[in-house]
Amino acid sequence: MSEDIRKGLVGVVADTTAISEVDPRTSSLLYRGYPVQELAARCTFEEVAYLLWHGELPTPLERVAFEGEGRAQRALSDRVRAAVDLVPTTAHPMDVLRTAVSVLGANDRHAGDRGTDVGKAVGLLSQIPAVIAYDQRRRRGEELVEPRPDLGFIENFLNMTFGYVPDPVVVDAFRVSLILYAEHSFNASTFTARVITSTDADLYSAVVGAIGALKGPLHGGANEAVMGVLAEVGEAGRAEEWVDRALAEKRKVMGFGHRVYKDGDSRVPTMKAALDRLVDHTGRHELLALYDAIETAMVARTGIRPNLDYPSGPAYHLMGFDTATFTPLFVAARVTGWTAHVMEQAADNALIRPLSAYVGPAERHVVPRT
Ligand code: ACO
Repeated sequence: MSEDIRKGLVGVVADTTAISEVDPRTSSLLYRGYPVQELAARCTFEEVAYLLWHGELPTPLERVAFEGEGRAQRALSDRVRAAVDLVPTTAHPMDVLRTAVSVLGANDRHAGDRGTDVGKAVGLLSQIPAVIAYDQRRRRGEELVEPRPDLGFIENFLNMTFGYVPDPVVVDAFRVSLILYAEHSFNASTFTARVITSTDADLYSAVVGAIGALKGPLHGGANEAVMGVLAEVGEAGRAEEWVDRALAEKRKVMGFGHRVYKDGDSRVPTMKAALDRLVDHTGRHELLALYDAIETAMVARTGIRPNLDYPSGPAYHLMGFDTATFTPLFVAARVTGWTAHVMEQAADNALIRPLSAYVGPAERHVVPRT
């Protein structure tokens, strides 16, 4: 095999981007030049979406116009609702979301018009929370909650999910999580969206593909899988023994490790602080003790640190979301980054088509079989 092969594209710089910068040396993450921690401390999620798509934070006038555009598109059409209802509740919510985005694309007569991609992204950002909220409610045997145009993005999302706007601690932790999840350079799902866009396919197709890529437990599915780890370990006192056994069995411990960050994920401290506030608010200190014990054991044994999915999984649990809904919440945030990359790729496109080194049988010829 050639020396040039980089399995998993490890270390390969595939293109330039002006959307975000991940620096593993300093464990830092910038969106359009702004540190993500600063955005999480000072901005609304809508402002961050605007920043990713337009390159600058909105002025007050731009913010009002942008929010108005999004609020007007929050209601599910009968067709999308019918499509959600067609998917059995035995299917994973990511399958529901993938189907719903596909139906949204099929119903957009301008799906292939590159000039309206920002408008389509705004539409998806409004519709995806409605699908997630409706799906969780139907699984619980609850009725759909209609959107409220008087509420901001975060409050409306939570109201459509739970039927009420929760305590400000929950609202703020949710906002922080979506800002941290919004964008992360050429991760697997974003790269999938760029590959699809590079064939000049439409934005919806790119997002459907990205949802498929995010579903896997090595990527977005990890926030859901973290709850499985916490449940399996059960109590803080069992963490060391459990981690030792998992490592001996060569299992991947969900919520730990990262392809780019090797000294810690830049987003974890901010999300952990939000988790701490949720723990204080809910009184679930035993969950935090369990969380800390697994992290301590894992870092002591391997030096491998948590990624964003480790604090966000239990945070979503404490907010009241069903575990299977966690990865769709990641979609609700990351659709901003995906679509920013779709627009960047389309603006200066080159078909993404790497080479492969063939290792199958040498040339041979068909011999009629008797
Ligand atoms: N648990 C146990 N061992 C691990 C873990 C883990 N979570 N992560 C890495 N390792 C080990 C590997 O087994 C490997 O050991 P080896 O050299 O003895 O074979 C070594 O660390 C290097 O790991 P790689 O798998 O080569 O690292 P890679 O960059 O390919 O993987 C990945 C990164 C996929 C995220 C990995 O750490 C993993 O599977 N983590 C668990 C899933 C997860 O949490 N995913 C979320 C990613 S972040 C996000 O999507 C927001």
